[in-house]
Amino acid sequence: MTDSITITDNRTGESLEIPLHNGGVDAAEWRKLLPGIWFHDPGLATTSGAESAITELDGDNGILRYRGYPIEQLAEHSSFLEVTYLLLKGELPTKAELDGFVHDVTYHTFVHEKFRRRMYDAYHYDAHPMGLLMSGVSGLSTFYPDSKDIGDADKRMENAIRLIAKMPTLAASAFRHRRGQPFVYPDNELGYAPNFLKMMFEIGSPYEVDPAFEKAMEILLILHADHEQNCSTTAARVVGSSHTDPYTAIGAACGALYGPRHGGANEAVLQMLDDIGTYDNVEPFIEGVKAGKERLMGFGHRVYKNYDPRARIIKQAAYDVFAVTGTNPLLDIALKLEEVALEDEYFVSRRLYPNVDFYSGLIYESMGFPRDMFTVLFAIGRTPGWLAHWDEMLAQNSRIARPRQLYIGASERPYVPIGER
Ligand code: CMC
Repeated sequence: MTDSITITDNRTGESLEIPLHNGGVDAAEWRKLLPGIWFHDPGLATTSGAESAITELDGDNGILRYRGYPIEQLAEHSSFLEVTYLLLKGELPTKAELDGFVHDVTYHTFVHEKFRRRMYDAYHYDAHPMGLLMSGVSGLSTFYPDSKDIGDADKRMENAIRLIAKMPTLAASAFRHRRGQPFVYPDNELGYAPNFLKMMFEIGSPYEVDPAFEKAMEILLILHADHEQNCSTTAARVVGSSHTDPYTAIGAACGALYGPRHGGANEAVLQMLDDIGTYDNVEPFIEGVKAGKERLMGFGHRVYKNYDPRARIIKQAAYDVFAVTGTNPLLDIALKLEEVALEDEYFVSRRLYPNVDFYSGLIYESMGFPRDMFTVLFAIGRTPGWLAHWDEMLAQNSRIARPRQLYIGASERPYVPIGER
């Protein structure tokens, strides 16, 4: 068997053999044999833009693995910073390597005071924290001009660690700004998740981190850490491919994540549950979705055509948090929605299942996070994934992202002076 496909150009009757590369059509060869014939692929649904060794996602079978390790095992046994190390460096760390890595992250958590205060102060009290986070991340590039040296692998890693360390600080700062509360500085005695929770919620008296919250936070961060070539990772890669610095590339990724079809979906899920309001409204709501009036938020995925494995883990973590906080009253509506949708022909035939966002918002809300912080939490978790892909792309010396188009506009026509139009 030859690893190639043969296609016939019906305009000429010519038969062309195109080699396959790692199971994909070799576009370089295609371009040579069929110059000017582009793939028309809006949404890039059938286009591979990368050769990546980071995350394996088998959407038909509901499988997600980081560097070969099943997400279920990582969520149960690992920590967010260990997973971060794995994503960035390719292997699980030894104890000494992990200790060194945790130390490095811990000692980069502070953000330049002038920048943090003055930039955030420029925003209204009710500014969405994703807007602040995005500006904060992009703005860091001006403080670390050497991050532009993207050809230096050590510099790339140094700046990746820096950004991962500062994400919770920027995020908590955005939250406190919104609340009008004094900022709480990072505590280097605490781990990544407890430090973040403290910066978020300590006010007046010392904040004791509930172990169930810490565990849930670690799991949620791990589950969000990477998801191969999703919209925001693609944004980071596209911007990074122009050889800009990592802060600017990850700022772009934050922008992509913000939208309700991507990381903004967890916020939209709770709004939807609120709008449904009661158990009895679930079935009429589903009828409205089927009639195309709205979407069932937290359902469906471009790649998963099976239960999102992250949703299953999150559902369990939700019960562990509810054991401490009491059940979120919206949980019953969510469970009923899931039950109805999973048995309905509309959802079954389109293979629409709950995704990571369906239950995550319920946990966040029970832990005390306001809804507009949900996407920010997603961004903190996804930062290692964005950076791992950015680093991998640069290490491969890849080309600048520059797709083609099928022009459908007017053909040449003479300019008409304004008085004659
Ligand atoms: N509710 C109702 N119908 C849906 C939904 C939904 N949530 N998702 C897809 N469909 C239907 C869609 O109308 C279409 O039907 P038809 O073939 O009759 O036109 C069919 O399913 C295929 O949908 P699509 O829009 O072509 O699918 P896509 O791969 O372009 O979109 C998606 C994927 C995630 C944007 C979409 O499923 C969606 O909008 N879901 C709701 C938002 C959401 O939960 N997003 C979070 C995704 S997971 C976290 C992340 O990666 O950010």
